[in-house]
Amino acid sequence: MRDYGKIKNYKAEGRKIAVEFEKGRMEVTVLTDEIINVFVPIWSDDHRSKAIERDDLERVLSKGCNFDTSEGSTKDGRRSIEIKTSCLKAVVKDGGSVDFYDAAGRLISAQFEGERVPIKTVGIWEKELLEAEGHTVADTVLDKPVSDVRCIGKNDSLYGLGDKMGLLDKRSYEYENWNTDDPSAHNEQYRSLYKSIPFLICKGKEYTYGLFYDNTFHGYFDLAKENAEYIAYTADDGNLDLYFIGGGNIKSVVGNYTLLTGVTPLPQLWTLGYHQCRWGYSSAKDIREVAEKFRELDIPCESVQYDIDYMDGYRVFTWNEKDYGKPGELFKELKAKGFKPVVIIDPGTKREEGYFMYEEGTKNGYFFRNAEDTEDYVNEVWPGEANYPDFGREEVRYWWGKHVNDLTDMGVAAIWNDMNEPASFKGPLPEEVVGHDEDRKTTHRELHNVYGHFMAKATYEAMKEHTKKRPLVITRASYSGTQKYAAVWTGDNQSLWSHLAMMIPQLCTLGMCGYSICGVDIGGFGADTTPELLARWIEAASFATFFRNHSANGSIRQEPWLFGDEVVDIYRKYVKLHYRFLPYIYDLMYEEQKTGLPVMRPLVMNYEDDENTFNLNDEYMVGDSILVAPVVAAGERVKKVYLPKGDWYRLTDGEKISGGRYILEEAPLDYLPVFIKAGSVIPTYEDMAYVGEKEFKKLTLLATPEGGKATHYRDNGEDYSYLDGEYDLYEFEVSKEGKLKVNMANSSERIAKYEEIAVSIL
Ligand code: GLC
Repeated sequence: MRDYGKIKNYKAEGRKIAVEFEKGRMEVTVLTDEIINVFVPIWSDDHRSKAIERDDLERVLSKGCNFDTSEGSTKDGRRSIEIKTSCLKAVVKDGGSVDFYDAAGRLISAQFEGERVPIKTVGIWEKELLEAEGHTVADTVLDKPVSDVRCIGKNDSLYGLGDKMGLLDKRSYEYENWNTDDPSAHNEQYRSLYKSIPFLICKGKEYTYGLFYDNTFHGYFDLAKENAEYIAYTADDGNLDLYFIGGGNIKSVVGNYTLLTGVTPLPQLWTLGYHQCRWGYSSAKDIREVAEKFRELDIPCESVQYDIDYMDGYRVFTWNEKDYGKPGELFKELKAKGFKPVVIIDPGTKREEGYFMYEEGTKNGYFFRNAEDTEDYVNEVWPGEANYPDFGREEVRYWWGKHVNDLTDMGVAAIWNDMNEPASFKGPLPEEVVGHDEDRKTTHRELHNVYGHFMAKATYEAMKEHTKKRPLVITRASYSGTQKYAAVWTGDNQSLWSHLAMMIPQLCTLGMCGYSICGVDIGGFGADTTPELLARWIEAASFATFFRNHSANGSIRQEPWLFGDEVVDIYRKYVKLHYRFLPYIYDLMYEEQKTGLPVMRPLVMNYEDDENTFNLNDEYMVGDSILVAPVVAAGERVKKVYLPKGDWYRLTDGEKISGGRYILEEAPLDYLPVFIKAGSVIPTYEDMAYVGEKEFKKLTLLATPEGGKATHYRDNGEDYSYLDGEYDLYEFEVSKEGKLKVNMANSSERIAKYEEIAVSIL
């Protein structure tokens, strides 16, 4: 249990209340009426946040706040300091516990003051035996320097933590934040994956709040697994830097969290389209043939992505001319057919004299150093022996960015950052490896979980500055706040039905953590897919914001035409469905800039009072209007669908179905159950082979017989001119009779206009 002794004194300065205890100190800072930070300096005196940058903090502080600080005493006679805003009250008590109350005075999160009793009771001897047999036995978490244990209600649900495996409601599981590249088949008992996002949403009986533990060191979450009464966060090092986020419901908690750490920026429109990839397209011929086949089969596609084979011997920023021809030539050729070049870049830089990246990096001291700081640190990745750029330094990011600029100059349209946990084939990087947080020397212990974050930042900032277009950077590893720089995919999944099912909670959770552009490898990366699995996967993913089929060397190829005509037809149908709804997805991204709310959402985000949604793992919403209930089990031809209260319309035949119940929906292999909420107006486009193929001349508003309203956003889909007002904002109102009223809330003569806006009643 935390015990800092009695409160000696406290001092309020601006928004900060510094509390001095007999054995420690704490700072409580009111950021907004709904966000209060509790900071206990254990490792450093200041926050050193990587998630909340200067601009983020300015944005938060500009919201203003009002609060009072007073002294009080607890029921058990302890001295306390109360900090009260219009929404929250934090009570700091003798001993160092902090409790939070809502505006109605209800205790919403109390510090747990008992002793933790971890479940793991294995002795050291048993541990050795278990580990010899290949089991992993976690060390005890009791003696960690950073610890925060908080009470929760017995039926509270727990959401968040980014890409972690498992269910939507993560209660009764434990997790670790230590970015991990593990190619084996991820299952719901996995504690860590590629990303570390220490943000939890606790849905209590009467109040929903968020806990953001901003700490990059190795962290551990026990989510009421060892004891139903509490959740525990501990870490190997760092500070206790807790942002208590109020709001009362999931939407406002997510809004507040993204206010703090940033939203996913508006992307270029084409990036939201379909992408094809394989680790194993090993020549220009391969890429060309795949690209042409998409056009021939009339399956829309934006990019056939270049995995590591396009490089010369896996040396980053080089080009394999032998198999891919002259640099840039293939790009030009495929651009003429609407394909945008997307290339992979790994951080591991080959150690080889004469190779420019190695020479520049070594000469300038841009790589991580060994634990003794005597020479550059060496491990192994795809190119063999490699060094690791020290991305925490601005100078190194700038250097990297210059090479990114060479790629974009060559025609590259988007960059895919991989292996940036970072991956290492010769054992993990020792925690003592030396790197930097800007000018400050530090170790990998602090930097590991933000390695991918800094690499994404380097790539994004260079692309933004140099191309003046909205960058698409796709990253595998990330931390809280990386959503400002990159879209994410969930790494090396496999062609397993359980991984298809896992996609829904995983993407919904990433969305709740600010990652509005996210996706999984459709069809599964490792292992061999089957016709049925691929068909169900393209259906299930058809509203994903990062929409890509990808597979691994050594697995069977995964282009849809290799699975027979039936699969091709299904594939085409659902990729086209995605494109049909592209303007709706883009509108949601426009909204997301203001609200932080993701495109793909768990039902509980929209129907928070409906307990049937609390842990609903096989359905999702797209915005507020579309409910998608994919089949995610082999052989299933009838889907049990939960429709929340209200009326719904089946997309395919417009049949009206009343909600607040489960229905059984016939679901043959080519059918994805999609329902439209009564009162929705949804903008849709005509068919296209790719974004940019033709002008969008016709917009069709899909509406239900109730009529309704919608706001529709249109810009040039590419650059930042929208920030100078170059966009159109339509306000549509469809009457019950299907009559349309249009109001232009913003109009720019530089934006093309629709020739026709039609209404289609379901
Ligand atoms: C990693 C990535 C995967 C990529 C492969 C080869 O496994 O997760 O997507 O294809 O490396 O670059």
